Amino acid sequence: MAHSPLSILSQVDFNGDPLTDELLMKTFHQLMDEHGYVLMCNVPEEFDPVRFCRNLGRFVPNYTGAVVGDVRPEPGMDDVYHAGNTRPLTPHSEGYDFAVVPPRYIALWCVTPAGGPGGETTLADTRPWVESFTAEEREWFLTHEYDWKTTEGVQRLGLDLKTRHPVLEETDQGTIVRFSCNNLIRDDGDPAAELQQRWHAAFDREHVSIDYSEKDMLVWDNWRLLHARNAFSDRNRHLRRIQIAA
Ligand SMILES: [Fe+2]
Repeated sequence: MAHSPLSILSQVDFNGDPLTDELLMKTFHQLMDEHGYVLMCNVPEEFDPVRFCRNLGRFVPNYTGAVVGDVRPEPGMDDVYHAGNTRPLTPHSEGYDFAVVPPRYIALWCVTPAGGPGGETTLADTRPWVESFTAEEREWFLTHEYDWKTTEGVQRLGLDLKTRHPVLEETDQGTIVRFSCNNLIRDDGDPAAELQQRWHAAFDREHVSIDYSEKDMLVWDNWRLLHARNAFSDRNRHLRRIQIAA
């Protein structure tokens, strides 16, 4: 069941005038702290997404090295699990395949919306799920290190990333959640296998679904929320993306 997003920030006020930079940032951070994501709509022509993202932190390059990445169907990638095609993506956090901590924020903005059905970005908050862990589960997922691999699509780009991290990591800037339905390596009887099932089911029940209009910009806390994508058919769908460090 898809829910509508609650955390929506209009870039223009009730008079149709753009918010000041100060008010935009203040409301953005209030909404981000509350919900872990912000969908910005009514985006004026002159809005500069890259400049906005610079206020949030240092940029983390995408897999190709491009700082501003393109998310659109790429030639020769239709047969693999990859953001650069039209297929669905299962719930995951970004950057479990990085040796370093994952990017804190992911920003996506819409250049060309998908015509026809599908193509929504979906999001769900892991905070209540982590809070409902038993003490034993919490201890296990904080201390047990798993092997992670990268996606088939990224492997095809020539990057064979292998990392070792726990699912939960505590830092002085908050708890990091790493999660993947398909790239977390575990045995069938491992607690992570049950967690994948449980969180995939919770994601399906609780996620919000982001249906982009042109220039809409979505930013989420990637240490806290999982994201996924619905399949679509319009190959003109085009988003841009920036990853931002803590
Ligand atoms: Fe992703």
